[in-house]
Amino acid sequence: MAYNAGFMCGFGLSGSVWTCDGVPLSVIAAAVGTPAYVYSAATIRDRIGAFSAGFASYPHAIHYGLKANSNLAVVRVVRAAGALVDANSGGEIDVALRAGYAPGDIILTGVGKTPAEIDQAVALGVKAINAESAGELDRIAAVARARQTVARVALRVNPDVVADSHPHISTGLSTHKFGVPIREARAIARQAGARAELAFVGLHVHVGSQMLGLEPLRQAANAVVGLARELRDDHVTMEHVDLGGGLGIAYDGEEVPSADQYAAALIEIVRPSGLTLVVEPGRAIVGAAGVLLTSVVDVKPQPGGKKWFVVLDAGMSELMRPALYGAYHRIVCVEPRAADPVVCDVVGPICESSDVFGVDRLLPLPTVGAVVAVLDAGAYGSAMASNYNRHPLPAEVMVDAGAWRVVRRRQTIDDQLACEE
Ligand SMILES: Cc1ncc(COP(=O)(O)O)c(C=O)c1O
Repeated sequence: MAYNAGFMCGFGLSGSVWTCDGVPLSVIAAAVGTPAYVYSAATIRDRIGAFSAGFASYPHAIHYGLKANSNLAVVRVVRAAGALVDANSGGEIDVALRAGYAPGDIILTGVGKTPAEIDQAVALGVKAINAESAGELDRIAAVARARQTVARVALRVNPDVVADSHPHISTGLSTHKFGVPIREARAIARQAGARAELAFVGLHVHVGSQMLGLEPLRQAANAVVGLARELRDDHVTMEHVDLGGGLGIAYDGEEVPSADQYAAALIEIVRPSGLTLVVEPGRAIVGAAGVLLTSVVDVKPQPGGKKWFVVLDAGMSELMRPALYGAYHRIVCVEPRAADPVVCDVVGPICESSDVFGVDRLLPLPTVGAVVAVLDAGAYGSAMASNYNRHPLPAEVMVDAGAWRVVRRRQTIDDQLACEE
């Protein structure tokens, strides 16, 4: 549905109403209902453009981390903007193919690849399978032998680096399940490099997500570039180093390195190796490109009368990050309200006490039916949504060039029950 031209890119206040690329969020909520995710195509393009510009001075490939948001329409915008993809499962490979990617555009990562996923990736001939263990390299080689082909593999290394992020999204410590310990990686890579069924194409590392500083990324990059140097001395050559994703976004106005600063830091470390620099940003591309629209279904005073509960029609089944990681998201009323600000706990409708979107938020007390937007919900929002409490998966809307369209219809109870007896 077309709206007005001359729009502002992304989400923001236009006068006193919140808009996405110029379209009032209240218009979308009225037409589509709530809960609904709304995405800004312009913001996705802008972010990919920023990464491309940052890395332009050095051979590189940007593989968008599909796990952040693999809605088909989002992935199509990502593809049209020139980024490749990093898939974390067979399902994400399927989405990438449907979005128009060729196998050579896809990297497969994943700490627990099933036999079917390995077979799918080998048969397709993806750009790289990031292997997580010596055993997995054996299994990939066996499939490649059976298919009489050569599988392109990289080795995921665990550099034992502190990510300085939430413990549940830190992945680079030796106690974490990801990759092979850096001390063992040289021998494992040498063996892989010598196998006829494997083409050893790179080293991979990903130490965490929502990182607000560059130091952990520098440490990880130094570790893999050092290992690549050692392997070159061992006559094991490769094409790229893949430094994963992890760059954070400003959920609460925090200072975050720019794409330029991020790229400059990594290029400085990788340049002497001459290897192509691969990155897998997810959140930094789609995080700020999406909001969750949700309606107020109840408002009630808390004991003592100083605070209010604002109960929404969306909760942890639609957006799990606050319940899972205590994550912070700004919450705004999409239309102006004359009421004085009061202190609110903004909560979901799910039967879990952790189903809370925001504690002690100052909001003009919303009335039942008012629509609020949970901001910066484009990454790990809809991707982690579930049917808990039999909530349908929410509708999703793409706004592009002043027009909007539903890119995933709201799930129905029939959709949910179609696979049940
Ligand atoms: C291997 C890998 N690559 C890329 C990403 C994307 O990370 P982010 O969204 O933090 O950029 C992740 C996220 O967990 C990951 O595990």
